[in-house]
Amino acid sequence: MKIAVIPGDGIGKEVMEAALHVLKGLDLDPEFLYAEAGDECLEKTGTALPDETIEIIGEADSTLFGAAGESAADVIVKLRREFDLFANLRPVKSLPGVPCLYPDLDFVIVRENTEDLYVGDEEFTADGAVARRVITRSASRRISRFAFDYAKREGWSRVTAVHKANVLKKTDGVFREEFYRVASDYPEMEAEDYYVDATAMYLITQPQEFQVLVTTNLFGDILSDEAAGLIGGLGLAPSANIGEKNAIFEPVHGSAPQIAGKNIANPTAMILTTTLMLKHLNKTQEAQKIQKALEKTLEEGLVTPDLGGSLGTMEMAAEIAKRIEG
Ligand code: NAI
Ligand code: MG
Repeated sequence: MKIAVIPGDGIGKEVMEAALHVLKGLDLDPEFLYAEAGDECLEKTGTALPDETIEIIGEADSTLFGAAGESAADVIVKLRREFDLFANLRPVKSLPGVPCLYPDLDFVIVRENTEDLYVGDEEFTADGAVARRVITRSASRRISRFAFDYAKREGWSRVTAVHKANVLKKTDGVFREEFYRVASDYPEMEAEDYYVDATAMYLITQPQEFQVLVTTNLFGDILSDEAAGLIGGLGLAPSANIGEKNAIFEPVHGSAPQIAGKNIANPTAMILTTTLMLKHLNKTQEAQKIQKALEKTLEEGLVTPDLGGSLGTMEMAAEIAKRIEG
């Protein structure tokens, strides 16, 4: 098994080291192919995303990505499009022993990952700037189908589309229409749709109601950070970028320059990210071993300062690795 490893910038490097330490506690013995990308890479080589990195990702069975800094749009947003990683899966699951707003949440945000305002088609005008929002029928169908298939496979009964079709009548009109078209192929599943502003409120007032949310790129980006806040913060939120052929796994958080270099970043998001990768590679038992060891560590309060503990990033990872059962 070949795994491409792109630590990137800031805490990306720290949480990657921690997650690899935990991964190495399993009997898998993968081959790690290291690659560069991000701000530091840009400074050193003149490009934030070298061709060699793209080649290595193409060769690998799967890719782990830490975080990029200011160059994130030129790195991860570009990679998602380069490899057509159309689905961004962001599970929101409360963890034991973690102080948070809701200790009982379990839902998933499925974010369309290749279009919307993130095509980055902006231009200056005489009085400011304009951005182009691209929503296609094919991408809307594809992400809706992914959401329903995922929901079915994971035992959920309801999929909720999130949009703003009352104002963005054409773009989100297309998204909503295609969602319901796909929904008709899944008569056993409940399908519903909410406006994004109302969803932002329901995430605070009744998040337990949600199962699988499917939405466009920008709304998905914003709602998933909000959702991370419900379960204890960005240090706990994993994600997967999934395409037909390739997949890149990364925490929801960025390079967090304010805490970088201090050995206080929470490695949990990156570690959960590796469990998503293992599940994707059909290594479900191995994923569960890490999950269990992580949960024990959290319950014992052996955590980083963001969760009220006093351990460093690597110390927490070492405690998790120690608790992996053979
Ligand atoms: P951020 O996710 O880096 O940080 C937001 C807040 O969460 C900060 O208070 C940070 O300290 C905290 N935080 C994040 N991860 C944490 C962890 N593991 N443990 C404890 N606390 C954690 O987002 P921000 O500050 O908006 O962006 C910082 C840089 O990261 C920017 O240059 C941005 O472009 C980049 N970025 C990159 C992403 C990527 O590579 N996928 C995603 C988001 C931002
Ligand atoms: Mg984001």
